[in-house]
Amino acid sequence: METIHRVFVGDSRDLSSVADDSVELVVTSPPYPMIEMWDDLFSTLDPAVGRALESGDGREAFEAMHAQLDRVWDELERVLVDGGIACINVGDATRSIDGSFRVYQNHARILEAFESRGFDPLPDVLWRKPTNSAAKFMGSGTLPPNAYVTLEHEYVLVFRKGSDRREFEPRADRRYEAAYFWEERNRWFTDLWTDVRGELQTLEFDGEDDGLRERSAAYPFEIPYRLICMYSAYGDTVLDPFWGTGTTTLAAMCAARDSVGSELEEAFLECFDDRVDDVPETSRSIGRSRLARHREFVAENRESGTVPEYEAEYYDTSVVTKMERSIRFREAASIETVADGYRVEHEPLSVSEGGG
Ligand SMILES: C[S@@+](CC[C@H](N)C(=O)[O-])C[C@H]1O[C@@H](n2cnc3c(N)ncnc32)[C@H](O)[C@@H]1O
Repeated sequence: METIHRVFVGDSRDLSSVADDSVELVVTSPPYPMIEMWDDLFSTLDPAVGRALESGDGREAFEAMHAQLDRVWDELERVLVDGGIACINVGDATRSIDGSFRVYQNHARILEAFESRGFDPLPDVLWRKPTNSAAKFMGSGTLPPNAYVTLEHEYVLVFRKGSDRREFEPRADRRYEAAYFWEERNRWFTDLWTDVRGELQTLEFDGEDDGLRERSAAYPFEIPYRLICMYSAYGDTVLDPFWGTGTTTLAAMCAARDSVGSELEEAFLECFDDRVDDVPETSRSIGRSRLARHREFVAENRESGTVPEYEAEYYDTSVVTKMERSIRFREAASIETVADGYRVEHEPLSVSEGGG
């Protein structure tokens, strides 16, 4: 099995290199409006943003920034298939402008933007950011009533394009082999993720490129990896229009889905080759640890007297539901650079000794 991963340097307000109805899943994290690190970028996209900030008009700046994201949401509407899913990772922003502190609710503004484009909102996920903030208050210390809570969560907003779900032919292998285990379902499909760790975050920047790491605002690998497993099947294409350091593409490579990414800043693409080198090893270890964790789950259930009813087809283990029987992990065996991206050759997961 082969997957293709295309990456473009470009402005996603115009995604003309991506064909209409050619993407089944979007997983992305835009620059967050009203977070200062993105002020310059938004002001470059639209100088009205800079003018609004300078004149102290927070509401106008917020709206002007979202107007730029809206143009990307228009493109997603065009390239996603009917029933395709868009997962948008975003955080709200707190900020003082002209001496006045408030929260700018990016998640609410993006919800409106998608609904007005004909997307149906689905239940979203909140995930807790690892924080090292010593001061958990903002405002007036320990005196009521003017302190403010600290934002320590982000949203993954989930939308379906249109009201109809995607259809597959009965018993489609590419869907059944991409199934997840019962206990993974229970962990992943909760609305509060407290177990997202930062893995695979290391970017090899040398010398003068140090600033790139800070400018990237990369999300933890687990976020796109889970979302890809939850909302796509083998053979699907995942798009990230705010590609950054390419975490979504790495997750798509490890999950054996095709991907497309578009990023304004060319310097991020130059660092991506170093991250790609880890994909064969990472994809293998993810598959093996998912399997090992599942076996622990089965063993614990046996001890407590519940025996999962079905036998997996490709692995020496029991599973809880009929739908899990054909689960088949892939590992990346080799990666080659092709025009505009990468071709990855995947093989069925090689399991360790006695693993079946
Ligand atoms: C929050 S970061 C995404 C980080 C990414 N998820 C990762 O893990 O590295 C947002 C990215 O979007 C890029 N960006 C912002 N506006 C863009 C646009 N109009 N077209 C393409 N890329 C854009 C920024 O340069 C930045 O790298």
